[in-house]
Amino acid sequence: PPFWVVIPAAGIGSRMRADRPKQYLQLAGRTILEHTLDCFLDHPRLKGLVLSLAADDPFWPALPCATDPRIQRVEGGAERADSVLAGLLRLVELGAQEGDWVLVHDAARPNLARSDLDRLLAELADDPVGGLLAVPARDTLKRIGADGRVAETVDRSLIWQAYTPQMFRFAALHRALADALVAGVAVTDEASALEWVGQAPRLVEGRADNLKITRPEDLEWLRQRWAHKH
Ligand code: CTP
Ligand code: MG
Repeated sequence: PPFWVVIPAAGIGSRMRADRPKQYLQLAGRTILEHTLDCFLDHPRLKGLVLSLAADDPFWPALPCATDPRIQRVEGGAERADSVLAGLLRLVELGAQEGDWVLVHDAARPNLARSDLDRLLAELADDPVGGLLAVPARDTLKRIGADGRVAETVDRSLIWQAYTPQMFRFAALHRALADALVAGVAVTDEASALEWVGQAPRLVEGRADNLKITRPEDLEWLRQRWAHKH
């Protein structure tokens, strides 16, 4: 199906401890953000793409794609959900309709495979709610107690990691996110907002290597992988 994209890229990357927000760190000769945008920009089903950036972001204007007319920019907010909501508001101006599909994808996930993107689109095309790429837990899982010791072993088969893109209908996503923010509910992804209003997003199994660059070792790992690919 045709789809809109919102990319939240207004974070500061505190856990990365770099000299700039992580989306502007280099990977195979370009910034992480440029690779992430490339996952979508040439997709034949893309209706439009909105990028949420921090106010006065000094790094964006220096990129070659800063003048790309396919990229609509908005100012992000204090939390990821604020940045996504700002992007959704711009989609209204671009002509998004209630039932249109919107995909939200972290700027910090530059290794999204086209096959994963297309499988998400295909598997959810007729779904009433929508859903997200996710990865089944691989390791044995422990719940930690206050004393730093194992409180219990958790059933691994019940736990999946939430990835992005997350794909929902425009109006439902907009309403759920806005209501959650007003209510002060902490929503760290779009699915949480939909869950909060009583919906059950579908999990579509994706590749584990669509990881979010969070800590320095994540970027090291991806740089090494891409050293062979590029
Ligand atoms: N993000 C955003 N606006 C915010 C916070 C985060 O647009 N106020 C974006 C980030 O730029 C990132 C994505 O949301 O692409 C996922 O968030 P996360 O990995 O937590 O990135 P940061 O918040 O930048 O990193 P950290 O939490 O380590 O500071
Ligand atoms: Mg964060």
